[in-house]
Amino acid sequence: MDTKNAGSHSDRRGFFKKALTMVITGVLAVVPLSAGLLVLLDPWRRRATAGGAVKVTSLAALPDDGVPRKFPVLANRTDAWNKYTNVPVGAVYLRRTGEKVQALNVACPHAGCFVDFSPEKGDFLCPCHNSSFTVDGKVANASSPSPRSLDGLEVEVRPDGGVWVVFQNFQAGRPDRVPLA
Ligand code: FES
Repeated sequence: MDTKNAGSHSDRRGFFKKALTMVITGVLAVVPLSAGLLVLLDPWRRRATAGGAVKVTSLAALPDDGVPRKFPVLANRTDAWNKYTNVPVGAVYLRRTGEKVQALNVACPHAGCFVDFSPEKGDFLCPCHNSSFTVDGKVANASSPSPRSLDGLEVEVRPDGGVWVVFQNFQAGRPDRVPLA
């Protein structure tokens, strides 16, 4: 056998062995690293949300005059790594007529500024680009840039008189309501 050829075969075998060893070592190193990253990043896979109904006020504290009043919404919130209790997640206008309560998200559907209610004019006005809304949340005039009415929210008056709202924010700038996480 040609000794030069035998040497070259042996070199190639050595090279492939080394390459295979490096690949296996790399895979073994990456698998636990990926598993560790998944555990570390796991909180990102959980949704941060106020979630469910939150108590906003009581019926007794809400005058029966059909005038909207603004309330902060506090809820528990979970972000990537922490859980917070009773933090502000938004605000609502509540409007009581008899035993009926209407809830509107204060965020303007145009770009998310908070609207103000004017008791003198009897409507909502957005300070950012002048969208206006009727007392029950509908777009008040055709020149308003808001693409939809104020976002109504599910509201429930519980037997103990607590007023609970299913709080939700929605994407601004579009005519349909797309919930934000
Ligand atoms: S954000 Fe309200 S009109 Fe633009």
